[in-house]
Amino acid sequence: MRKKITIVGSGNVGATAAHWMAAKELGDVVLIDIIPGVPQGKGLDLLEAMPIEKRDSFVLGTEDYKDTANSDIVVITAGIPRKPGMSRDDLLNTNYKIMQDVVGKVVTHSPNSILIVVSNPLDAMAQAAYKISGFSRNRVIGMAGVLDSARFRAFIAMELGVSVENVTAFVLGGHGDTMVPLPRYSTVAGVPITELMEKSTIERLVQRTRDGGAEIVKYLKTGSAYYAPSAAVTEMVEAILKDKKKILPCAAYLEGEYGIHGLFVGVPCKLGARGIEDVWEIRLTDEEMAALKKSADAVKELVSVVGV
Ligand SMILES: NC(=O)c1ccc[n+]([C@@H]2O[C@H](COP(=O)([O-])OP(=O)(O)OC[C@H]3O[C@@H](n4cnc5c(N)ncnc54)[C@H](O)[C@@H]3O)[C@@H](O)[C@H]2O)c1
Repeated sequence: MRKKITIVGSGNVGATAAHWMAAKELGDVVLIDIIPGVPQGKGLDLLEAMPIEKRDSFVLGTEDYKDTANSDIVVITAGIPRKPGMSRDDLLNTNYKIMQDVVGKVVTHSPNSILIVVSNPLDAMAQAAYKISGFSRNRVIGMAGVLDSARFRAFIAMELGVSVENVTAFVLGGHGDTMVPLPRYSTVAGVPITELMEKSTIERLVQRTRDGGAEIVKYLKTGSAYYAPSAAVTEMVEAILKDKKKILPCAAYLEGEYGIHGLFVGVPCKLGARGIEDVWEIRLTDEEMAALKKSADAVKELVSVVGV
């Protein structure tokens, strides 16, 4: 049986994610949105690219949740993106209302699916989806760390003039100004970057990573990044559908890990067929732990505003 992936929200992130996923033949893709015609048009256009790409992914655009029935994975990208001068947190109330609209319908039609939330503010929206869905915690995952780590990896590779394939990086914490890049656990061909670069250089790259989303928003002016975000969620979908047991930084609902209770925070997760199959508790220095706690506090403040 082919796998079925629904993407809620057919805007920049949603449609580009559909493109990556169909091109990788991860499964059949259903695009859904509330703007009449947009998901149908983008879905059909993408379907017509498949003969050229030699891929048998079926792509369908729709406004009807019946077409999403029995999806294996549902990626939620519905919501407004940032404009220049806005923080991700400014999106909270609008996107929470959208989450309330979307998650119930998704759950009714795909009760056994795994949800991956992309909408911002990421950690709070993942928490909302978790609470509204009633799903077990392994089946609700937030996408942020894969993107933030990819940005850090790109900057490290550029700085050192090495292949991006050689670079691994970890960024933990919430998807916001308090994210916690971990240079000690970031490597080039297995060598920690702390051995390869001056502290001041690492600090510059860390800051650029923190500001990575805002840097793109400043250029685009009318919206936020979507190529790297959609590639990031595609990596997560692939890890789950192929049961790869891949260790990726994801927003997960913590129940005591890292001393954090009842909150979505970015941590290293093992992704496989059951969604989050394990949360890795890596050893952190006091300083890194304090940064993670600060990040968790920022998430806590947001979720308390919408009461999830
Ligand atoms: N987690 C991350 O790292 C990350 C990265 C990039 C973007 N984002 C977030 O993803 C979201 C989408 O970004 P985008 O650039 O694709 O925005 P976009 O405006 O291009 O697309 C959003 C789409 O959602 C649709 N939508 C709104 N309400 C809906 C509903 N109730 N049901 C179905 N669809 C609905 C809109 O019609 C629109 O087509 C934003 O909240 C953005 O901040 C998160």
